[in-house]
Amino acid sequence: MLFCLSRFRPIDIARLQREIDELALISENPPPVVTRVLFSEADLRARTFVRNLCREAGLTLREDAVGNIFARWNGTETAQPPIATGSHIDAIPNAGKYDGVVGVLGAIEAIRALRKSGFQPKSSIELIIFTAEEPTRFGIGCLGSRLLSGVLSPEKAALFRDGGGHSLDDWRAKAFHKESLNSVRLPQNGYSAFVELHIEQGPILENEKLSIGIVEKIAAPSTLRIRLTGGGGHAGAVLMPERRDALLAGAEIALAVENSVLTSGSPDTVGTTGVFRIEPGAVNSVPCRAWLEIDLRDTQIATRDAALQKTESAVREICQRRKIEFTLDRVNVDPPAICDSTLVETIFEICSELHISSKRMISRAYHDSLFMAQVCPTTMIFIPCRGGVSHRPDEYSSPEQIEKGVAILARTLSRLASS
Ligand code: GLV
Ligand code: MN
Ligand code: MN
Repeated sequence: MLFCLSRFRPIDIARLQREIDELALISENPPPVVTRVLFSEADLRARTFVRNLCREAGLTLREDAVGNIFARWNGTETAQPPIATGSHIDAIPNAGKYDGVVGVLGAIEAIRALRKSGFQPKSSIELIIFTAEEPTRFGIGCLGSRLLSGVLSPEKAALFRDGGGHSLDDWRAKAFHKESLNSVRLPQNGYSAFVELHIEQGPILENEKLSIGIVEKIAAPSTLRIRLTGGGGHAGAVLMPERRDALLAGAEIALAVENSVLTSGSPDTVGTTGVFRIEPGAVNSVPCRAWLEIDLRDTQIATRDAALQKTESAVREICQRRKIEFTLDRVNVDPPAICDSTLVETIFEICSELHISSKRMISRAYHDSLFMAQVCPTTMIFIPCRGGVSHRPDEYSSPEQIEKGVAILARTLSRLASS
């Protein structure tokens, strides 16, 4: 028998908001800034905070070799694959408190509300707290879900090095994960569905005064890492015709990224040079080395790839002309994800039943859902955020907006776990 909507107990939004505020204080920077880099002390403390909430909610905990946390509410039909939900609690430097967190703490509250309502799932419901959705320590996003889905091999992950030359294994050991990464990949049919609740990170829902976005497609991200080596020297003594300035080559490359994007022919192509470091970094010394990380995305893979190739050709031309040695690595070049149309329809129906306004939309940000979509039917539930602002300390969604998102997630989980 399907769980009856009228028996559904309300979301305790006051408690959820307190938990969101409390988790935001676990940060490498003072409030309102949230920074939680993979396996930093703040990340480890945040994990403990969330594990405790999961235990208090009666969930059974397990962790894999890369630190993905799984918190399960056992269903009556243990032979059926679980329904999964979840998101991340790591945060880029200078972030806010809602990105990822709403999908983790919101899912715990959805489960508590379902329990209070007397709901008993047939299929188990599993909350996944993914490791390193953000590309912080190793410069690659969705580390946990890439390994879970098999898109990233353990051998390739073992080669990752952070800025200090430390490997993923070094950091895993510090975080008490000693088992082999080979055990992380999910089995086929491990989950029957995955639904991630998240803030929109864009302005559409707010502008259109809508409460819920249901994601049909996730844009295709890619990342380039470029190392430039020129010739340094004394800022007074090295005359201009002799210079091989790595910063100036990098500056031209950043402009070439912008040009590749603006001439792609698609308004959906976006490109960002988000990391640009130089050495030696002294006012009276010509920059001899530069390090750039470039993010290029589009909803269409063809235009994204064309912009990527144009950028790479520009790097070669600029470096040749300026006599700069370079290495160029494609850190990741991912396809877009197409979400499951039946799940999208189900959530759309639930929104209508609850008289909550909604629309189908594209996610321009990437999420662990991009990789979960390779494993099982997947979609996302978006809620509005003020001004579309995200990845900034002033990121904000109101308690009312969060409450609606959690209510839709709870109804979705109950419907999926009943069948
Ligand atoms: C995720 O945080 C992204 O950069 O889209
Ligand atoms: Mn993010
Ligand atoms: Mn996120």
